[in-house]
Amino acid sequence: MNVLITRKIPSIGIKKVEKRYDVEINQRARNLRKDELIEKVKEKDGLLCLLTDTIDQEVIDAGEDLKVISNFAVGYDNIDVDAATRAGIAVTNTPGVLTEATAEITFALILAVARNIVEGDRFVREDRFDGWDPTLMLGHELHGKTLGIIGMGNIGCKVAEISQGFDMNVLYFDKIPKKELEEKIGAKSVNLDTLLSESDFVSLHVPLIPETEKMIGKEELEKMKDNAYLINAARGEVVDEKALVKILKEEKIAGAGIDVYANEPHGANPDYYELDNVVLAPHLGSATHRARGGMSMKAAENLIDVLEGKEPEHMVNPEVLASR
Ligand code: GLV
Repeated sequence: MNVLITRKIPSIGIKKVEKRYDVEINQRARNLRKDELIEKVKEKDGLLCLLTDTIDQEVIDAGEDLKVISNFAVGYDNIDVDAATRAGIAVTNTPGVLTEATAEITFALILAVARNIVEGDRFVREDRFDGWDPTLMLGHELHGKTLGIIGMGNIGCKVAEISQGFDMNVLYFDKIPKKELEEKIGAKSVNLDTLLSESDFVSLHVPLIPETEKMIGKEELEKMKDNAYLINAARGEVVDEKALVKILKEEKIAGAGIDVYANEPHGANPDYYELDNVVLAPHLGSATHRARGGMSMKAAENLIDVLEGKEPEHMVNPEVLASR
């Protein structure tokens, strides 16, 4: 069988796939263009792709022999899952292995923005530090503060657990109540308005789906406290970036830590660059050796399982296998 891997991923997964199938890998340090993807997916049985590849109806139509689209990511908003399902193609993803890495970067962003780490780094490098100053770059502690988690899936739950090391109170907004977590750490399920108006840190951990697109807009941002921070390590489109830039410019919230952008895969949002109260990261949520190795392995296993006629561990559209 023939498999297309759209970018060089950690070799552990590639080796696993290469042992079984003929593999074509895009060796360039850039994403395949749409026309290249359409050309290369022809006569392939399996596609292992990244969140930066848009797998739409046209790509799916071109992949007439495709049986599986294995996404090297937990989020799969880059794939037209309905079109894949109609074409009888299994779609898989890689949850679990990146939970800790993504939860940890949430705290990296929280600490960086609330304690002025990036601003401080610039200050030192510019040789402006000339001794301890009692009022220099005062920030906010996490200790005893309220953390509002929007989306209490695997990553949200891990963020809630880590927050206990900082003695934070946890509010959360999710369709599915997490009773166990409520009992374990006293997390409280609340509506979105309460979460926004009572939290000192609001952190987003929802997938990008139609209901979550721009779920944090002007109105929601205006409900936040003026000394609160917004953290987004989910997807850029979950926030109305224009509204966020405006509210940050007007200093109506204290700041933001941002790892994801609506403009991806074509870079970040330049409107953020001028703002001092924002810490920006280049979509590093799962960027650890362990997480990316695990994602590579999982993506390979999911792909192989489908091609071998087995049910993969992480299937986005299980109805496809049920109807085979
Ligand atoms: C990263 O953003 C992922 O969805 O895995």
